[in-house]
Amino acid sequence: MITRRKALCLGLGTVAGVSPIGRSLMSKLASGAYLFDSGFRPSPVSSDKPLSERAAAKGLLYGTACRQHNLCSDLNYVRAIARECSILVPEWELKWAASYPPLRPTPDTFNFTLADWMADFAQTHGMQFRGHTLLWHLSLPSWFAETVTAQNAEGYLIKHIQTVVKRYAGRIHSWDVVNEAIELEDGRIDGLRKSPWLDLLGIDYIDLAFRAASEADPKALLVYNDYGLDYDTPEVDKKRQAVLNLLESLKARGTPIHAFGLQGHLGGRNGLSSGRLRTFLSQIASLDLKILVTELDVVGAKLPLPNNLYDRLVAITYEDYLNVVLDEPAVIAVLTWGLSDRYTWLSDFKPRSSNAHVRPLPLDNQFNRKLAWNALARAFDHAPKR
Ligand code: XIL
Repeated sequence: MITRRKALCLGLGTVAGVSPIGRSLMSKLASGAYLFDSGFRPSPVSSDKPLSERAAAKGLLYGTACRQHNLCSDLNYVRAIARECSILVPEWELKWAASYPPLRPTPDTFNFTLADWMADFAQTHGMQFRGHTLLWHLSLPSWFAETVTAQNAEGYLIKHIQTVVKRYAGRIHSWDVVNEAIELEDGRIDGLRKSPWLDLLGIDYIDLAFRAASEADPKALLVYNDYGLDYDTPEVDKKRQAVLNLLESLKARGTPIHAFGLQGHLGGRNGLSSGRLRTFLSQIASLDLKILVTELDVVGAKLPLPNNLYDRLVAITYEDYLNVVLDEPAVIAVLTWGLSDRYTWLSDFKPRSSNAHVRPLPLDNQFNRKLAWNALARAFDHAPKR
């Protein structure tokens, strides 16, 4: 006998289309995790304690990425961040050339105006501050390709890292020293991405970057950050192994690396299979590395669903994932890649097929708490204490 619940979810399964994420999440819904009839709503957490407090009670930091131009123009956004977060990371301002004015206007100059503003903002609001990212294959300035050569690349790498890291030494919780260095589709045996840095300096660029950062700020937690490691598919298994191989090789050569950044852009093609994710995190922890969830959000572009259902699917995705990840004691922080649907990169990067506004984050575009907020709150409340 198909219960009303099952029928509802099966019906929704067609609404969600044939996408595997729709089906796997629908089966989750059928289990009664989150029902849509008014008779059952996700159990709301007791009290309106902010996410930062709930995280801190378990020895965790919770925060978000944000952009200076949004903070300086939206007081309600500032209030929401100040209420919910205990750490922040500039979404653009510490990349080589993502903001305007860019951090690196010319080969010989730095413009710290926006990055300083962000560091001061964090300090003023009593928040920790993390740096993102010292070396990445993207957000490189237009002068980079015509200026940096195999002969001078090491100098540019060291100059950039030493100058930037020294400036914030003592004010930074952690640095994403190298970002997204693994790309299996580039076909290398070691899985390394054919980034400009690899082309210019060879595989030693990663070790070199960490050593330069460690020399500039011995107190900062130095992180290797990457994505696409959350769901169980053959490709993800291979990428997890390539990341582990990289981390093991860095540790073996004495590279001053202290943590791994799991970006956590969720919404994979398959449902979450906690076993292999737990093992992956445990293997990282066994290398004496801490783990940060650095860019958590839910990419639900292919779910042409009404917002009330969409929000429940997003909430389930967060809670399922964090219930697994936060079981790993080496996890010390969770940052979402944005706090409010008003400001999310996914509006441009992964718009919804239905052209409805994307709704990936804990707060809606009026900074009200959503089911996603409730899911993060529940996950922090249920997490083991560090
Ligand atoms: C993204 C920003 O959010 C966008 O605004 C920008 O256009 C591109 O970069 N992984 C990362 C982040 O490490 O730096 C990226 O941030 C998102 C993917």
